[in-house]
Amino acid sequence: MTENEHSENTREAEIREAVRDRYKRLAQKETPCCSSPEEATCGCGGIYPSAEVLSLPAEAVAVSAGCGNPAAIAELKEGMIVVDLGSGGGIDAFLASKRVGSAGKVFGIDATPEMIARARKTAKENGFDNVEFRLGEIEHIPLESNVADVVISNCVINLSPDKPRVFKEAFRVLKPGGKLAVSDILLMKELPSTIKEDVAAWSACVSGAMLEEDYLQAIRSAGFVSEKVVDRQVYSEEQLRSHISADSFTGDLGALVASCRVSAFKPGA
Ligand SMILES: C[S@@+](CC[C@H](N)C(=O)[O-])C[C@H]1O[C@@H](n2cnc3c(N)ncnc32)[C@H](O)[C@@H]1O
Repeated sequence: MTENEHSENTREAEIREAVRDRYKRLAQKETPCCSSPEEATCGCGGIYPSAEVLSLPAEAVAVSAGCGNPAAIAELKEGMIVVDLGSGGGIDAFLASKRVGSAGKVFGIDATPEMIARARKTAKENGFDNVEFRLGEIEHIPLESNVADVVISNCVINLSPDKPRVFKEAFRVLKPGGKLAVSDILLMKELPSTIKEDVAAWSACVSGAMLEEDYLQAIRSAGFVSEKVVDRQVYSEEQLRSHISADSFTGDLGALVASCRVSAFKPGA
């Protein structure tokens, strides 16, 4: 192994550990979501229509950490099979579960054991019989090929150190004609190197984000077609600073990142 490869592997291991640690702590949280300013971007902060939030288990809403509402662009129908990449406490999986009904099925995939345990408990206690949470990395989805009608994901792919691999895996598990519908943080322009190198800012869904055109290219390279950014909500400097506790980062941080909804299709048979 070259010195370069060694340092890349070390950095990847460091990122994965920081991500698991952050979401392990979130999974163990009892207090409601949005109880502190740094959580202002979490799921109950106006991301979902309030009627939808009220219809979901409080245990899932409390640890919601998404940046959008991917199910809203997923066109879910009764009987569909849905995969949620990085399902966390399960908020989007439970929303999808209601849409696909008892004839459908939702698989939530997450790499943090504490999140999986919490989501499984919530599913059991609230009677979500058509949802199954599986422990695993989204770079190696623990599902067979060609099984899903829709793959959703909410603020997770930016956390992966190997995003091209995630898109290849999403493509693999989708049936021909299946849809990818994700919310994610994307860059409007390159981040300052101080933020880019900061592991805590990576686990806060910022440093790992890709430029919009590179993200769409990675989706295309995985085999998808009709890839597009459906909408974007650009973060103000204040929003970004509160998100990454960025006191130590100087310079103009306005209009650097956006929460985007992106869709694409696996070509039909
Ligand atoms: C920002 S949270 C979003 C959780 C959920 N989608 C939501 O909207 O509440 C990111 C989640 O992705 C999981 N995660 C991060 N990287 C992952 C990876 N490479 N493979 C699987 N899960 C991952 C974390 O454990 C965490 O639960």
